[in-house]
Amino acid sequence: MDKLIISGGAPLGGEIRISGAKNAVLPILAAALLADDTVTIANVPHLHDVTTSMELLGRMGVGLVVDEKMNIEVDPRTISTFEAPYELVKTMRASILVLGPLVARYGAADVSLPGGCAIGSRPVNLHVKGLQALGADISVEQGYIKARAKRLVGNRLVMDMVTVTGTENLMMAAALASGESIIENAAREPEVVDLANFINQMGGKIEGAGTDTIYVQGVENLHGTEYRVMPDRIESGTYLVAAAISGGRIKLKNTRPDIMDAVLQSLREAGAIITLGDDWIELDMEGRRPRSVDIRTAPYPAFPTDMQAQFTALNAVAEGVGTITETVFENRFMHVHEMQRMGADVRVEGNTAIIRGVKRLTGAPVMATDLRASASLVLAGLVAEGDTVVDRIYHIDRGYECIEEKLAQLGAKIRRVPS
Ligand code: UD1
Repeated sequence: MDKLIISGGAPLGGEIRISGAKNAVLPILAAALLADDTVTIANVPHLHDVTTSMELLGRMGVGLVVDEKMNIEVDPRTISTFEAPYELVKTMRASILVLGPLVARYGAADVSLPGGCAIGSRPVNLHVKGLQALGADISVEQGYIKARAKRLVGNRLVMDMVTVTGTENLMMAAALASGESIIENAAREPEVVDLANFINQMGGKIEGAGTDTIYVQGVENLHGTEYRVMPDRIESGTYLVAAAISGGRIKLKNTRPDIMDAVLQSLREAGAIITLGDDWIELDMEGRRPRSVDIRTAPYPAFPTDMQAQFTALNAVAEGVGTITETVFENRFMHVHEMQRMGADVRVEGNTAIIRGVKRLTGAPVMATDLRASASLVLAGLVAEGDTVVDRIYHIDRGYECIEEKLAQLGAKIRRVPS
């Protein structure tokens, strides 16, 4: 298993290109199962979660061709089984996204229950409840969700909680149901919009994605298409924090500032000077130490939970005291213990971390525990004195394309070594 070694201290500077969004490409790959023909997906990031999704589709018998630019051609016509096995679902919870498409298009899906997860219990009860409301017959047998249906029938779906993949699963299922479905209290995340745009490009009839009420008019079938995945707002935010924390100046290209209001606002509060174009963001800290910020995570358009750990790292070296309140997931402060080992002054009370910034962290061996927590440890390493060794970085490879290459391009002293 690889490790990352970071020698802290250098302010970051330069330009990088942001990759396609992990949380958009995963549902889009699953939605390809809805089509009657080949779909081609472009701007696909080279990530471990994408490889896992391809393995999942490949095992079902779906045809997959990847070219040298990571364009993926998905041909669902050769599908022969409708199962998502435990060994894949346990490494990537987003595998649950095949449940809706399989039952809608093929009338059968056997998807392993994801089980526990490092960032809380993360149940899938709302996915199941919504599919039942669309007429699927669902049972849980030997750890598998078994869903069967002739043709799903549109219905009014009121979500008890805002769930991103839950909204996506039901939107995909409703796309091929007979009649209209209305998803109320839907997730408004930009990745939900990207998925709706993809389905509509295949001939679907979805309106209202990006608001809390989504109208899906079911169609008989969906055709092949070519689609370009949106840029990754979490990767964008992570590199902006990397620059802010190090007092540096960077420019991100191929990104979407219009969907990053909450994160950009917090960076401005931290003292960053931010300039925006249609598809680029420039951040300049002018060599200053960041100021502490108070953050409360919540569903989009509020501050994203997937950026919380990175701002914990920023607060750890900022001037003043900052609080981070996590309202989306329970138990999402594992990175705090590792940062404390680097000298961070953090106290956790319930779902709030209170962080008193220190002038300097010190390098230490630390362990990556989940995807965004791992990224935050890399950020902390960038400003720590001496070497930080981040172990178990397979978590980072799930969601960040070439993180060490991009950071090195910005002047960071970082290298990957095999354990
Ligand atoms: C997605 C993102 C993840 C992000 C999260 C919140 C993908 C592939 N992953 O995860 O990166 O951190 O949104 O923005 O897009 N819940 C239930 N029952 C359900 C479903 C969810 O109680 O059936 C709860 C969860 O436990 C959690 C909350 O709802 O407390 C939100 O989770 P959800 O939006 O579903 O997260 P994911 O879609 O898994």
